[in-house]
Amino acid sequence: MASSSSLYLLAALLALASWQAIAFDPSPLQDFCVADMKSPVGVNGFPCKNPMEVNSDDFFNAAKFDMPRSTMNKVGSNVTNLNVLNFPGLNTLGISLARIDYAPLGVNPPHIHPRATELLTVLEGTLYVGFVTSNPNRFFSKVVHKGDTFVFPKAMIHFQMNLDHNKPAVAQSSLNSQNPGVITIASAVFGSKPPISDDVLTKAFQVEKKLEKQQIIQQEEEQKLIQSRMASPSSLCLLAALLALISWQAMASDPSPVQDFCVADMHSPVRVNGFACLNPMEVNADHFFKAAKLDTPRKTNKVGSNVTLINVMQIPGLNTLGISIARIDYAPLGQNPPHTHPRATEILTVLEGTLYVGFVTSNPNNTLFSKVLNKGDVFMFPQGLIHFQFNPNPHQPAVAIAALSSQNPGAITIANAVFGSKPPISDEVLAKAFQVEKEIQSQMASPSSLCLLAALLALVSWQTIASDPSPLQDFCVADEHSPVLVNGFACLDPKHVNADHFFKAAMLDTPRKTNKVGSNVTLINVMQIPGLNTLGISIARIDYAPLGQNPPHTHPRATEILTVLEGTLYVGFVTSNPNNTLFSKVLKKGDVFVFPVGLIHFQFNPNPHQPAVAIAALSSQNPGAITIANAVFGSKPPISDEVLAKAFQVEKGTIDWLQAQFWENNHY
Ligand SMILES: *[C@@H]1O[C@H](CO)[C@@H](O)[C@H](O)[C@H]1NC(C)=O
Ligand SMILES: *[C@@H]1O[C@H](CO)[C@@H](O)[C@H](O)[C@H]1NC(C)=O
Ligand SMILES: *[C@@H]1O[C@H](CO)[C@@H](O)[C@H](O)[C@H]1NC(C)=O
Ligand SMILES: *[C@@H]1O[C@H](CO)[C@@H](O)[C@H](O)[C@H]1NC(C)=O
Ligand SMILES: *[C@@H]1O[C@H](CO)[C@@H](O)[C@H](O)[C@H]1NC(C)=O
Repeated sequence: MASSSSLYLLAALLALASWQAIAFDPSPLQDFCVADMKSPVGVNGFPCKNPMEVNSDDFFNAAKFDMPRSTMNKVGSNVTNLNVLNFPGLNTLGISLARIDYAPLGVNPPHIHPRATELLTVLEGTLYVGFVTSNPNRFFSKVVHKGDTFVFPKAMIHFQMNLDHNKPAVAQSSLNSQNPGVITIASAVFGSKPPISDDVLTKAFQVEKKLEKQQIIQQEEEQKLIQSRMASPSSLCLLAALLALISWQAMASDPSPVQDFCVADMHSPVRVNGFACLNPMEVNADHFFKAAKLDTPRKTNKVGSNVTLINVMQIPGLNTLGISIARIDYAPLGQNPPHTHPRATEILTVLEGTLYVGFVTSNPNNTLFSKVLNKGDVFMFPQGLIHFQFNPNPHQPAVAIAALSSQNPGAITIANAVFGSKPPISDEVLAKAFQVEKEIQSQMASPSSLCLLAALLALVSWQTIASDPSPLQDFCVADEHSPVLVNGFACLDPKHVNADHFFKAAMLDTPRKTNKVGSNVTLINVMQIPGLNTLGISIARIDYAPLGQNPPHTHPRATEILTVLEGTLYVGFVTSNPNNTLFSKVLKKGDVFVFPVGLIHFQFNPNPHQPAVAIAALSSQNPGAITIANAVFGSKPPISDEVLAKAFQVEKGTIDWLQAQFWENNHY
C-alpha cells in the first residue's frame, strides 16, 4: 500500500511538472502548427515546425490500433496513447486518442485527465465504468457493452473494469486535449457516495479485499498512515497538484465548463450557447451513455458512406465539454465526400479496410496532404479544412471511428452546400466561381440528384468557439524575425515596440484592380500589423467589379462582419448539413451582414455598370480563407479525380477538365 501510493505521488508530481509546460490547449492561429520536438524553446504546447518541412506523415500514425496490447501487469490493463508527444500534427488542435486493452477482470484504475473530457467507445467485451464528481462526490456508473459509448467529464475521477472472467475487452477513447495528462490518485475514491465496488478498489490499490476491509475497520491506523503521508514532501506536491487542478478547472479551454458537468436540458425553453443545464439532482448515468451500436455496420448511401455521429444531441452529458465521436462506414469504392467541420479537428482511426484520405490547406497554397491508410492507422484533419476519405477497394467495405473536438462539430459537404442549398445560390455566382459556363455547371450535380449525407449532423445553435487565445499581457507584438515558430508569433521585446507596430498606411480608401472573378480582397491581418498578434481581429477591404464576385469560401478561424461602402451586393451563407439552408440578402450602401465562423459564404455585385466596395472585420488575427473551387479543383497535388467525380456526381472527364483550369485566387 505504501509503495504503490508513493507511485501515485510520483505520478502527481510528474503531472504537475507537465501542467506547467501546457496549462491548457491553445487555439490554432493558422491551418496547423506541427510540433517541433527538437526545438529547445519551451512554449505553451510546442513550437511549430517549418510549414515547408511538413508532410502527410506529420498527420499520420501507424498506431496499429487494431492490435491487442499486453495486459500482463498488476492492474490488467494497457493504455496506448496517441497524443502530441507521439503525433506532432496534433499541436494546438486540442484532441488526442487512446486504445485501452483490459485483461479478464482487468481494471483501468481510478484516475483523472486534468485537461480533457473523455468519450469512451467499447470495441470488444463488457465494461463497468464510472466517475465521481467533485464534492459532494456523487458516483455515476454503468455497465457498457460492445458498441456503447460513455462520457467522463473533464477532470473527474473515473475508471473502467472488464467484468468478464474469461475474455479480454477493448475500448477506444477520444480526449479533447492534445496532451490530456493523467493522475491516478486515491483521494475521494474511498469517500464517494455510494462507494465504488470493492472489486474495483482492491485491484486498483493492489491489496487483498480483506486487507482493504481491514483498513476500513482499522480507521485509526489508516488515519495515522494518512497523517504520515501528509508530512512527507511528496504529499505536499500532491496537495499542490490538487489545488492546481481545482484552479485549472476554472480556466479550462473552450468551450469552458464552469462546473463538473452541464447535461443538456433538451426541453428547456431557454436558448443559450449550446444547451441550458439540467438540474444536477435529475442527472443520472444514462445522461452520459448511449447504446450506440457503434460495432454494427451501417447501410451506405449513394456516395457510398454513412456517418453515425454521437454528439450532444445523442449524449446530453456532452454539453459544454467540446467532444464527439462518429462511426463511418464506406461501401466498396465509397467515399465520405469533401467536407469541412466548422468547429472541430478530427482524428480518424481505420477499423476495417483501406482508405485514401486527404485535406487541403487554405489559400493561397491549397496544398493537398494525402495518405493511404490501413487497418489500425490514424490520421488527423485540422479544424475547418476541406477533407475527404475514399475506400479504393472495389470488393471490401471499410470502417473508421472519428473523434471530433466539439460537442457539435457541424459538417459542410462542399458539393451539397454549394450546388444543393435551399434556396439555390444564383447560377451566375456559381458559374463565375467555378470559372465554367452555366451549362457545364448545371451538368454538375443538380440539387435534386445530390444525396444529402444523412440526417446525422443536426445543426443546433451555433457554438461560438473563440479561435484566438486571450491575451496574457497588454500586447504581444509579433516578432516576425524571431527564429522561433510558435502558435501565432513570438512577442517582440516590449522595449522595442512603438506606435508603428499598431499602424499600417493601408490606403483602404483606394480602389483595387480586380481579377478574373471580378474582385480583390485586401486583408490587413497580423502579417501587415504585427500588433494584432494574440488579439483576435483583422480587417479587409473588398473591391467588386461590375458583375464581380467574391466566390464561395470559408474562414476556418473567423466570423466576419461586412459593411457595404459603395454599391449593392447580393450576399449569402449556407448552413451546415443536413439543411444547407441559404441565408441571402441584397445589401445597400451602409448595410451590415454577418457570416458565422466556418460557413461557406459569398458576395456578388449584381450591377453591370457600377463597382462595389465593402469593409469586412474578422474575429481572428489570421482568419485563413478557403476558396471552395480553388481548394477542391486547384489543390497541389490534385485530389484524385475518382473522388471528385463521385463527390460532384459528374463524369471523370469533367473533373479532369476543371482540374486543368487555372484557379485564380483573389483571397490570401
Ligand atoms: C506556401 O508556399 C510558399 C512558396 O512555396 C512558402 O514560402 C510558404 O511557406 C507556404 N505556406 C505554407 C503555410 O505552407
Ligand atoms: C502495453 O503493451 C505493449 C505492447 O504489447 C507492451 O510493450 C507494454 O509493456 C505494455 N504496457 C504495460 C503497462 O503493460
Ligand atoms: C445509415 O445507416 C442507418 C442504419 O443502417 C440507416 O438507418 C440510415 O438510413 C443510413 N443513412 C444513410 C444516409 O444512408
Ligand atoms: C432543418 O430542417 C428541419 C425540417 O425542415 C427543421 O425541423 C430544423 O429545425 C432545421 N434545422 C435548422 C437548424 O434550421
Ligand atoms: C489587388 O489589387 C492590387 C492593387 O491594385 C494589385 O496589386 C493586386 O495584384 C490585386 N490582386 C488581385 C488578386 O487581383
